[in-house]
Amino acid sequence: MTAQLNPRGDVAVLVPAAGAGLRLGPGAPKALRLLDGEPLLVHAVRRIAAAPSVRLIVIAAPAAELDAVRALLDPIAPVTVVAGGAERQQSVAKALAAVPGGIAIVLVHDAARALTPPELIESVAAAVRGGLPAVIPVLPVVDTVKEVGPGEIVLGTVDRAALRIVQTPQGFRHDVLAAAHAAGGDALTDDAGLVEKAGVEVTCVPGSELAMKITRPLDLILAEALLRVP
Ligand code: CTP
Ligand code: MG
Repeated sequence: MTAQLNPRGDVAVLVPAAGAGLRLGPGAPKALRLLDGEPLLVHAVRRIAAAPSVRLIVIAAPAAELDAVRALLDPIAPVTVVAGGAERQQSVAKALAAVPGGIAIVLVHDAARALTPPELIESVAAAVRGGLPAVIPVLPVVDTVKEVGPGEIVLGTVDRAALRIVQTPQGFRHDVLAAAHAAGGDALTDDAGLVEKAGVEVTCVPGSELAMKITRPLDLILAEALLRVP
């Protein structure tokens, strides 16, 4: 049955899903690859739609798959589907353009983080609602990190206590994200990076192991296992 979104919710979630998934190996665009028999995008949208403050979901889909994506998500939740761009940042900008001004909070999420729990979506949104302009979910770094120079010579050991692994959804006041995207940045900058460049403070909140990004074939195997966690 199609989930209902909350018509009084104050959150729009943008879901860039237009990537090819090159690192996953040959096959369909990543958002349409199957995990336990269902496309990653279906897993992702089902969890977003279960977050009670979400009013609008905008998917940036591969341009050749717009109708397929609409048909796929029709039984899951009401969504707006737009064509993505050549880079993730362009896909986000195109999805952002579909959000009406009356929605105060915009979350930017990756379809590739297909198992992100609704609770993380709510906690990021709540932090923005509580007055923070920009919020990112993070995990601590567990490995030792080295800085290296030419010839793979170690220059030093980085203090990992000051480092964080960044996940999505990243949450923003709508006006803050819109201004940051209008100012632009290079293709490697994430949404929080654009906002940082604009001089806005970005705050970390606890992320979730379940919000792992499915990037390589091993990640699909790990995600299958995570689905079995009770
Ligand atoms: N994405 C997008 N538009 C692009 C590139 C990426 O909407 N032009 C989306 C992907 O669909 C994904 C998210 O951004 O949900 C994170 O990107 P990534 O994990 O790098 O996915 P892909 O770009 O598909 O994978 P790869 O880099 O291995 O090709
Ligand atoms: Mg990519």
